[in-house]
Amino acid sequence: MNNGILRILFLFVLMSVTQYVHSDPKPDDAVHYRQGILMALGWNVSPMGAMVKDKVPYDAERFRFLAKRLALLAPMASEGFIESSSSAESDTRPEVWENLEDFNQRFAELEKVSSDLAAITINGEREAVVKQFIATVNVCKDCHDNYRVKR
Ligand code: HEC
Repeated sequence: MNNGILRILFLFVLMSVTQYVHSDPKPDDAVHYRQGILMALGWNVSPMGAMVKDKVPYDAERFRFLAKRLALLAPMASEGFIESSSSAESDTRPEVWENLEDFNQRFAELEKVSSDLAAITINGEREAVVKQFIATVNVCKDCHDNYRVKR
């Protein structure tokens, strides 16, 4: 390949990358993004829930791993709730867009409770871990009760 073609290819790649960085996300992309992160929250919460309910044996090390991942993911979800996605099809109730402050406050709360959960799993007794896990899933549930379409 000669230099001219390489240069054009390079410019093309650069243009497509910068265009992606600068453009606002498309409504459908925002919906897929937030559903993906929320699904990942559920993916990590479910096995912890199974341990808490004694459906599978409690494994402190695995619980710690899942709680750490949950704490990493929790701050990522709110980013997908952009107002321009309000018309896209999703399970988000329209009330979200009228109460964004309250809604985002709940995600801030989730960030805090899940990071406390991850911290407690480092040395905490099972009882303390379970208590904090319940506090965490209550934040999920309260928000779903208010802002998620019931299926
Ligand atoms: C601040 C509000 C809020 C919090 C906190 C919250 N969720 Fe949700 N969740 C939503 C909304 C709104 C939807 C619907 C998203 C959509 O379809 O646009 C949703 C959808 C989901 C879905 C379905 C995703 C899909 O693929 O359609 C799962 C799973 C989920 N949440 C799990 C959780 C878990 C687990 C937690 C707590 C660790 C949590 N959520 C915390 C608001 C919240």
